[in-house]
Amino acid sequence: MEIIRTVKHLNEVVDAARAEGKTIGLVPTMGALHAGHASLVERARKENDIVVVSVFVNPTQFNNSTDLQTYPRTEEADCALLESLGADYAFVPSVAEVYPEPDTRTFDLGPVAEVMEGAMRPGHFNGVAQIVSKLFAWAKPTRAYFGEKDFQQIAVIRKMAELEGFDTLEIIDCPIVREADGLALSSRNVRLTPEARAIAPRIHQVLLASRDLKAQGMQPAEVEKAVTEAIDASDALFRTEYYRIVDALTMQPIARWDEAGSRGTVGCVTVYCGDVRLIDNIRY
Ligand code: PAF
Repeated sequence: MEIIRTVKHLNEVVDAARAEGKTIGLVPTMGALHAGHASLVERARKENDIVVVSVFVNPTQFNNSTDLQTYPRTEEADCALLESLGADYAFVPSVAEVYPEPDTRTFDLGPVAEVMEGAMRPGHFNGVAQIVSKLFAWAKPTRAYFGEKDFQQIAVIRKMAELEGFDTLEIIDCPIVREADGLALSSRNVRLTPEARAIAPRIHQVLLASRDLKAQGMQPAEVEKAVTEAIDASDALFRTEYYRIVDALTMQPIARWDEAGSRGTVGCVTVYCGDVRLIDNIRY
C-alpha cells in the first residue's frame, strides 16, 4: 500500500487507473479506524480494482473546537490496518493540502440537512459536503462507501452528489458494525470513561425494544417520547439530545408509520453518555 500526501499524486494515480479501465472504490474516513471502517474497506476491496481510503480529520465539519482538538488521531495504526485489509492507497493529506485557501462554498442541501444533526450542529453538513465533494473530484471513484451509523450524513452526501453532478458515481451505504454488546462502533468510543462504556450499549437495547412499541400500536411521536425517557431514566450519565423517527429517504419526521416512502422509516438518536456524544439508529 502506498501513502499519498498530495492531491497531484492522487490525481496521477487515479487517472492512470481510469485510463486502464479500472474501477476505483473510495472509502472516506477521518481515521481512528475500527472494525466498522474495516467492513467498508473490505467491501470496497471486493467490488473494485483499486481501493483508495482517505484519512483526514476535516476541520470544516467540526462546529466544536474541543471536539476537533480531542478527535483521536492514530495515523500509524490506521495505515497498518489499511495495508492488512489490502487497500492500494491511503490518501493522508495535510490541512494545507486540502484547504490551500478557505473553502467558502455553501451547498444548498435543503430539508435533508436541516433536521436532527443539521439543526444541532450548524455548519456541520456543509463542511461534510465540502470535503466529500473534494474527495469525489480528486479520487474520481466508481463507488464510494459510507457507514449507516451516520445515516443522515449519507442522505446529505447523496444530495451534494446530485447538486455537483457526480452522476455516475455510486454511493453505497453499509450496515452499522456493533460491539458484541450492541454498542455501535465509533471512533469516539475510546473517549468513554469505563462507567460510560459499561452503560452505552443500553442505547441500542432501548432502540431494539422500541420495535415492540410500534408492534403494540404506538405512533411515532409516542415511540420517540418512550425511547427518550427510557434512555434518560436508565442512568444519570445519559442525556438524550433527540430521538426522531423519520422517512429514511427524506429525513423528514413522520406522524404516522404509513407516511414513509419506499425506503421505510429510521429512528435516529443522539445521546450524551457522560461527555461523549454518541449517535445510533434503527430501522422499523
Ligand atoms: O463520516 C466521516 O468519517 C466523515 O464525516 C467523512 C465522511 C469522512 C467526511 O469527513
